[in-house]
Amino acid sequence: MSRSAAAAPALGKDLVGIEHLSARQITSILDTAEPFKEISERRIKKVPTLRGITIVNLFFEASTRTRISFEFAEKRLAADTVNIGASRSSVAKGETLVDTARNLEAMKIDMVVMRHWASGAARFLGERIPSSVINAGDGAHEHPTQALLDMLTLRDHLGAIAGRRVCIVGDVRHSRVARSNIFGLLTLGAEVGVCGPPTLIPPHMRELGVRIFHRVEEAIEWAHALNVLRLQLERMEAGFVPSLREYNRIWGVSRARLAAAPEPLLILHPGPMNRGVEIDSDVADGPHSVILEQVTNGVAVRMAVLYLLAGGRPEKAEAAKAEEVA
Ligand code: NCD
Repeated sequence: MSRSAAAAPALGKDLVGIEHLSARQITSILDTAEPFKEISERRIKKVPTLRGITIVNLFFEASTRTRISFEFAEKRLAADTVNIGASRSSVAKGETLVDTARNLEAMKIDMVVMRHWASGAARFLGERIPSSVINAGDGAHEHPTQALLDMLTLRDHLGAIAGRRVCIVGDVRHSRVARSNIFGLLTLGAEVGVCGPPTLIPPHMRELGVRIFHRVEEAIEWAHALNVLRLQLERMEAGFVPSLREYNRIWGVSRARLAAAPEPLLILHPGPMNRGVEIDSDVADGPHSVILEQVTNGVAVRMAVLYLLAGGRPEKAEAAKAEEVA
């Protein structure tokens, strides 16, 4: 598949966030991910769909899961990839990012997957280079592929997203995962709640149409699924939460608390987890946890996004899956 042959891509050039995607666009990414799931189950986990496409993974912030997931997705579609890591201290926002991008462009690339500590960095880059930019997390702004894999996992288990009740528990204020999930879930017609210490819940949540729960017990009673966020330990110093023990005692998702739910809840967590803080081990490893399925789905969703941005058509994804690596 060549980029020039691409018909009007359903997503545009970049994937910066979920906020401005339509329900149709989100659904088409999720549907495209379906046939790609199977490729990772094969003995030879590779199709030639993105052969000849060069992708740079540009990570200005630490990441294991997301970076590796993108790398697997790229390799399973036979793209050529280069990884660039940059420590926060050595990179200044703005000019340096443009310079980095210009240098990459000069080497003739097709796509950049970028994680950056600054909100807005992905859009900034996308506006300045002709290559497709995929946001792998920008500051506290968005983490679109995480929300897409969360929605795929929810859809797998709940059958649909519309009408389902999903509550995001924890540090919503600083979480790009929460923002992307809220936008996506609302667009697909879910009811969305957030729950956490008042210091970690931004005040504009209600305006978005999100329900705020002040007690985790109430959230558990209401929701079909909980998406539990990492308590970002770096926030502790800023005084947002009194102590880890206190946090676990009041907000922790524990088996005892879940036992009070009218029906078993689906448990999601984007990782990395702080076991015994925001989530207890017996919940994380329990029968209703889909945390590892999220990781598996992450590769398929990223394959779908790469495929669509490279000009692939959602309805042709099944055919792409059937191609063989020569
Ligand atoms: C999230 C992130 O980096 O935004 N993790 C991830 O993508 N695997 C959530 C987090 O760091 O808490």
